[in-house]
Amino acid sequence: MAAQGILIFGATGDLAQRMLFPSLYFLDEDGLLPDGLKIVGCSRGKLGDEKFAQQIEKAVRARAPSISDEAWRRFRNRLSHVAVDATVPETFSELRERVGEASELIFYLSTSPSHYGAICSHLKNVGLANATSRVVVEKPIGRDLASCRAINDALAHAFSEDRIFRIDHYLGKEAVQNLIALRFANTLFEPLWNKVSIAQIQITVAETVGVEDRWSYYDEYGAIRDMVQNHLLQLLCLVAMEPPANLDPDSVRNEKVKVLRSLKPIVGRDVERKTVRGQYRDGVSEGRSVPGYSEESGGQASKTETFVALCAHVDNWRWAGVPFYLRTGKRLPQRSSEIVIQFRDVPHSIFAGADLLANRLTIRLQPEEEISLLLMNKTPSLEQELKPLALNLSLSNAFKRPRRRIAYERLLLEALNNKPTLFVRRDEAEAAWVWIDAIMAGWDRQGTSLTPYAAGSWGPAGAFALTERNGHSWYE
Ligand code: BG6
Repeated sequence: MAAQGILIFGATGDLAQRMLFPSLYFLDEDGLLPDGLKIVGCSRGKLGDEKFAQQIEKAVRARAPSISDEAWRRFRNRLSHVAVDATVPETFSELRERVGEASELIFYLSTSPSHYGAICSHLKNVGLANATSRVVVEKPIGRDLASCRAINDALAHAFSEDRIFRIDHYLGKEAVQNLIALRFANTLFEPLWNKVSIAQIQITVAETVGVEDRWSYYDEYGAIRDMVQNHLLQLLCLVAMEPPANLDPDSVRNEKVKVLRSLKPIVGRDVERKTVRGQYRDGVSEGRSVPGYSEESGGQASKTETFVALCAHVDNWRWAGVPFYLRTGKRLPQRSSEIVIQFRDVPHSIFAGADLLANRLTIRLQPEEEISLLLMNKTPSLEQELKPLALNLSLSNAFKRPRRRIAYERLLLEALNNKPTLFVRRDEAEAAWVWIDAIMAGWDRQGTSLTPYAAGSWGPAGAFALTERNGHSWYE
C-alpha cells in the first residue's frame, strides 16, 4: 500500500522551507508522489491552511520560478496545516483527529533533536506511531555517543528500527550514488581497490559560506560533529566498504558499519599528529571582506572549530596502512567536495629522467559531478617526453537534465516507498560516534589548540603538515 500522508514537524523552519517542500513539489510535478498523498505541515503557531499554503508557495517558487498554475494547484490540494506543539500533548490528539483513518503515515521530524523523544512518545500515545507508520529524522542524532543513544532509545520507544529513517542528505546526492555504481558496476577498479595499488585517499568537503545566522546551532556542534561524524564518514564508508551482496538495506549497511568499526581510534599522541582543528578569522572570501567566526556572534569568544583535518586508518586487510585524509571547513577558498584516490607509483621506471606521476582517480561531487583519471602519456613528438593527462567524464554534460535534483527528493521518495537503504541505521550512527568521541576526548584532555585561519584560505598550516608528514599533499 502507498503512503497516505507525510506530516512534517518543523514545517515553518528553514530546512522544511528551503528543501523539503520544494522537493515534494518537484516530485509531484514529475508524477512521483502517490495519488492522494496528503502533506501536513505541523508547527506551533495556529497558521491555518490558507496562510500556510501561501508560505509554501513562496518557498516553492523561490526554487522553481516557472511553475505552472495547474502544477501548483495540484500540489496545493495536498497541503494542510495543523498547530502541534511538542510540549503540549493535547495538540497531538487534535492531530489524530485531523488525520482520521489514514494509514501508512510518515512523520518527518525537522525540529531540534531535543523534541524527537517527546514527539515520538505523543505520537505513540495517540496511536499514530503504529505498525504501518514510519519516522524520518534529521541529523544531528546527538552530540556524542551518549546523547545519540538517548535519541535512538526515544525513537525505539515508538518505532521499530526498520521504521526509523535517519537522514544523511549526502546519501541522496546523485554523485554519491554514482560512487557505488563506479565501484560495483565496473570491473576495472575493484582488483586495484586496496592497499597494494592505492597509496592514499583524500576526502574533502570545502565550503565558502561562513556560519552566519546558524551560529547558535553551529557553536554547539562544530565541524567534527556537523560534518565529519556524518557526511564525511558516510563517504569514507562508501569508498572503503567491501562489495555488498546486493543493494538490500542491510547488505549495504552491514558493510558500512564494518568500516566504521574498523576505524583505528585516534588516541594518545596521535591526537596531536593526526588531527587539526581551526577556526576562521576575518579575511577575503569570494572577493569580499568577511568577518571572523567570533565576530559573527558579536565578538563572543568560542572554542568551536570551523575546520577539521584528520588522518584516519581503516584497520583491515584491504586498507591496512593506507591513510584516509579527511578535511572539511567553512570559509575555504572554493566550494568543492571531492574524493581523490591516489594510486601508487610505478614499481620501476623505464623512462630515464622522466617525472612519472602516479595515476589518480578524482571523483568530484560538487559543484559539478565529474570523474577524472590521471594517466601518463607520451607527447606526440620525436622526443621521449611524457606528460600526465586526464580522462574526463563530466556527468552533467553526458546526461543533460533540465535541472539538478535536490538530494532530499531522492530521500523523500525512498522514505515514501519504504526503502531504507539510503538511511543510516542505529548501529552505524553509534559506531561513528564511538570514533568521533575518542577524538573529541583527546582534544579536551590534551587541550588541543584551535588554530585560526584566514577566511578564504585552505585552513591552518597544520593541515598541510598532516599530509606532508607522510610525504603526501592535498590536491586542490
Ligand atoms: C549540513 C551541515 O548537514 O550540510 C551544514 O549542517 C553544511 O553546515 C551542509 O553547510 C553542506 O551540505 P551541502 O549539500 O551544501 O554540501
